[in-house]
Amino acid sequence: MRRIFLFSVFVGLLSCSTRQPVQTDQLINIIPMPFSAKPGADVVQWEKAVTIVAGSAEETAVAELLKAHLEKKELAVTISSQSTDEDVVKLEINTETNHHPEGYRLTVNQNGITIQAGTAAGLFYGVQSFIQLAADAKQIPFVEIEDQPRFAYRGLHLDVGRHMFPVDFIKKYIDLMARFKFNRFHWHLTEDQGWRIEIKKYPKLQQIAAYRKETVVGHAGKSKVYDGTPYGGYYTREEIKDVVEYARQRFITIIPEIELPGHSQAALAAYPELGCTGGPYEVATTWGVFENVYCAGKEETFNFLQDVLDEVVELFPSEYIHIGGDECPKASWKKCKHCQSRIKKEKLKDEHELQSYFIQRIEKYLNSKGRQIIGWDEILEGGLAPNATVMSWRGEAGGIEAAKQKHRVIMTPGNWCYFDHYQDTTATEPLAIGGFTPVREVYSYEPIPPQLTAQEATLILGAQANLWTEYIKTPAHAEYMAYPRACALAEVVWSDANSRDYANFVKRLKANRWLLDDLQVNYAKHIFE
Ligand code: ACM
Ligand code: ZN
Repeated sequence: MRRIFLFSVFVGLLSCSTRQPVQTDQLINIIPMPFSAKPGADVVQWEKAVTIVAGSAEETAVAELLKAHLEKKELAVTISSQSTDEDVVKLEINTETNHHPEGYRLTVNQNGITIQAGTAAGLFYGVQSFIQLAADAKQIPFVEIEDQPRFAYRGLHLDVGRHMFPVDFIKKYIDLMARFKFNRFHWHLTEDQGWRIEIKKYPKLQQIAAYRKETVVGHAGKSKVYDGTPYGGYYTREEIKDVVEYARQRFITIIPEIELPGHSQAALAAYPELGCTGGPYEVATTWGVFENVYCAGKEETFNFLQDVLDEVVELFPSEYIHIGGDECPKASWKKCKHCQSRIKKEKLKDEHELQSYFIQRIEKYLNSKGRQIIGWDEILEGGLAPNATVMSWRGEAGGIEAAKQKHRVIMTPGNWCYFDHYQDTTATEPLAIGGFTPVREVYSYEPIPPQLTAQEATLILGAQANLWTEYIKTPAHAEYMAYPRACALAEVVWSDANSRDYANFVKRLKANRWLLDDLQVNYAKHIFE
């Protein structure tokens, strides 16, 4: 290690030749902004070789990820349980410390670089901050960071039903999430237009539900033109296991979504006996909300869904399983003798209570397996299932109502959290579903609504952005829609509310652009121009 005195530090960028006090906003070039950071006035200068000191298996697993990153920066990296070398990064998990479960302390000073945490997750987040701080991996500014997240749930969603994305891209999405300290990946696996998860017991999901015969061209609201090209695919069990493990190593829990009772037309195409009329149905070829939904009256529907969920819980260790619950038209239930006799038998008031019956029955089943459900805010209609967590997407009202009913909530309101919206007003923007949610709007989001008491506010687990892919066909386009908006959301869910400062964020984003370039991300450039 060599220390050099610096006149002005902007993370490796010597921008100024006169001596000036170092400003916090210049030095702490980390997204999301850490809870507290005290900059020093010096740097650690690395030569060509570095040792990462890691003892336990958990420390070593995190060290391996750091090693892979530093090697790309042309450093020779060794992992060792001890080192007398000068250029070291010490990784320490100490379960005795009272760090927040995802918190860490990162110290860069004359004694070297140390990252300490109470858990492997905390250590991992410390490493992420270190990677950003050590942008060029040669000069690392002195600093003392104490950090912990504001929210326990920091999510990004991806719809693979409308368009399918290769496993390599799912891993890249996860890598990017990890960089910005997201910890929940909501994988939307079933849709009207395609069923994307292999289920052993139901082969027609693979043979029929995974494929549509063609796709609408242009905006579904206006177009009657179809491309005539079959489209589809699904993730095999082996691929899913591989992705779940990949995410686990990066401290990301994957929450699978199996949509019910609506958005189920692809499944009905494969197993028409599960619909009210018995079909025939076809995998949807355009976008929207469809009236063909699972029959709530037939026992076969519940047998099928329970079998599917048995395989889902086998593949996904997540405590939470998302069961959808949104946009379920009631027209077919109104005309169906099975649904109507269920309403009578269960003494339900109407079809909304029938939907609630449906969700509650699925909740009971998943609870019996030790899992909890998340549903979109429509699950409030007809009465919430007793243990359900609500994902508030039609604004914040559903989330507020759920919290008032003492239910846990994840905020994903469209105005701030829908990354399928336009992010710019220029005519050259690629076709999107609609809306307008620029980076600034995302950054301005406050997940705790003022209508809640302090007690109710504790039920807001966090927030998530959703990436619906009706109009997003390729990984490059998905990246364009997700970044840098996801960087803004990362700060909303991790950083202290009082530290929020948009101008400062943009400055850090510009300086941290290399984080996206490094992973060859096709991010939107508006904010950089
Ligand atoms: C949704 O956007 N339909 C949850
Ligand atoms: Zn029915």
